[in-house]
Amino acid sequence: MLPPLHVLCNVLFARLKITDFCTMSESILVEGATREEKYASLLPQIRALVEEENDLIANVSNMMAAIKESMGFLWVGCYFVKGNELVLGPFQGPVACTRIGFGKGVCGACWQSAETIIVKNVDEFPGHIACSTESRSEIAVPVFKNGTVFMVLDIDSRSLADFGETDKNFLQEIALIIESLPG
Ligand code: SME
Repeated sequence: MLPPLHVLCNVLFARLKITDFCTMSESILVEGATREEKYASLLPQIRALVEEENDLIANVSNMMAAIKESMGFLWVGCYFVKGNELVLGPFQGPVACTRIGFGKGVCGACWQSAETIIVKNVDEFPGHIACSTESRSEIAVPVFKNGTVFMVLDIDSRSLADFGETDKNFLQEIALIIESLPG
């Protein structure tokens, strides 16, 4: 006599590898005691995560998720330059403002200056746009295409003065990866 249907299904499912459905690794495992060590562990995994996919939104979505999940920041995401505004792109964290003008807030200032901006205390940044009242410090990094800014990477932290040169170096590496992506 045949086993019940749900048992047959479980046996069949167990014989199929995850790679039959999905070609990427299931999770990011970050090792290290310091943030620098964690970034060093995360970077090659992010490179591997995007190497077989050619859709920009899919890749950036996974990159933001990988950083958020492994580093535990409040908000990790990006804004795309669209006309005279930044428009919200893939992110992880609390809901955020959808549009930011040129030169406005930390992200708009990053777009305008085309330089990384580190804000140690968001309350002291003139014109800071508070998407979440939990945010205490922030870093915004420009991403370029053909020499102009086409995206701003943005990370918010619950801690004051949470970002420094280590974060800047890592995120500028992430920006270079995004710049090299197809799509
Ligand atoms: N604080 C940003 C707005 C974006 S959120 O932090 C997600 C700014 O001042 O541009």
